[in-house]
Amino acid sequence: MPATSVIGAQWGDEGKGKIIDLITDQADVVVRFQGGANAGHTVIVEGNKFVFHLLPSGVLREGKLNVLGGGLVIDPAQLLSEIDQFTERGIDVMSRLAVAGNAHCVMPYHKTLDALREGRKAGVPIGTTGRGIGPAYADKAHRAGIRMYDLIDEQRLRARLEANVEEKNRFITQVYEGEALDLEQVFADAWALGQRLAPLVTDTGRVLRAALDDGKHVFFEGAQGVMLDIDHGTYPFVTSSNSDTLGIAAGAGVSPRRIGHQIGVVKAYCTRVGAGPFPSELFDAQADHLREGGGEFGATTGRPRRCGWFDVPVARYAAQLCEFDGLAITKLDVMSGMPEVGLVTAYEIDGETVDEYPVDTTLVERAKPIIEMFPGWTENVSAVRDVADLPETCRAFVDEICSRVGVPWEILSVGPGRESTMFRNPARRTADPTPAGGVSS
Ligand code: GDP
Ligand code: IMO
Ligand code: MG
Repeated sequence: MPATSVIGAQWGDEGKGKIIDLITDQADVVVRFQGGANAGHTVIVEGNKFVFHLLPSGVLREGKLNVLGGGLVIDPAQLLSEIDQFTERGIDVMSRLAVAGNAHCVMPYHKTLDALREGRKAGVPIGTTGRGIGPAYADKAHRAGIRMYDLIDEQRLRARLEANVEEKNRFITQVYEGEALDLEQVFADAWALGQRLAPLVTDTGRVLRAALDDGKHVFFEGAQGVMLDIDHGTYPFVTSSNSDTLGIAAGAGVSPRRIGHQIGVVKAYCTRVGAGPFPSELFDAQADHLREGGGEFGATTGRPRRCGWFDVPVARYAAQLCEFDGLAITKLDVMSGMPEVGLVTAYEIDGETVDEYPVDTTLVERAKPIIEMFPGWTENVSAVRDVADLPETCRAFVDEICSRVGVPWEILSVGPGRESTMFRNPARRTADPTPAGGVSS
């Protein structure tokens, strides 16, 4: 059976965790393939809140294998703390999890360097999550990284740390005037963490290829989103991995041919945390409505998320890049009570109208949004379970999004819980998408 991917099509926090948790009742395996503990995926099940940073959001369901693939940068301390928290809540994580031996480790010096780089006087801060993501991926590219296989081999770990800590300490103290780390402490802590994780470490690429060969249904859970992708997003205001469909094959160790069905997750509006261009950003009471109503505060850092209208060129660019088969549109309930709702349909850049998203970030920085307004809906839609019961204006707004982005909707979400969801085709759920068309078509 071909695999299914669930990818954020904006700047992260689209509701990927909710969608993955929801549809993985059909999964055998759920895989994270990139990023690290910078992700924050909140899942609400029967009123209970679960926040995932590293663990795949399929971990709540019994009998599923959850995989952290080789494309991740894994903070062993954070992973164990998350495993412990979930285990205390009665979820037997250890029996449901496999960790790639070729995944890289986030070490304490990566987090120190992340904080120091963000605080330096020269250069523009990205507003990172402070989880050491950029420095860990930089070490991977420098071929100085410590992989999970190294973490669980005492001699290799010591040798790799000796080479790294000395060099990093010079950087930390001489370039950034920070405090040096103690090699023996870093080693002792890392070794202790590695010992606990050792039973989970394996060649997950082989595990996944075998599962796919056996006809198992594999789901790939994206973290961040297309616009935070290091190559295709708003560089340099991005994360340090390929946070879209294009990262799956390399990050999981499977051929791109295996990905058969692709779901792009979008909010019915847009948010962004951290610095960087955001053409549809609102600064008025409408932004407050979205932030307060949508609980738009970061799950990882607690920062208020910047809010704006749904950006059509951004979502269309994401859809063209990833070739989504269907959209999951979340948070329609949050827009209830707005007299009018907006779509950014194009930009004005240097006096010209541009309707395709420009990959040159400096152009995006200069882009002024061209906004079309549509009638809003006053009804509370969070209890709606049938598309036909949505207010006509809400259905029309969904239709506008789908026809302009060029991808049909597959899932509509009107609340954080599993139950607050509508499927275009409840019988088929994630199987072959229906042909393109709007809600009422
Ligand atoms: P992710 O990073 O893409 O998984 O998204 P986050 O979990 O960071 O942010 C999405 C937030 O919105 C979470 O708190 C979800 O519980 C919540 N959520 C998801 N879908 C909906 C929805 O349709 N309506 C409302 N009101 N909340 C939602
Ligand atoms: P989920 O998976 C939203 C943003 C940070 C910062 C930039 C780089 O919950 O959607 P990093 O720590 O990765 O070096 O920060 O990327 N960022 C996210 N924004 N959701 C996320 O994850 C994010 N992960 C990173 O705010 O602007
Ligand atoms: Mg999030």
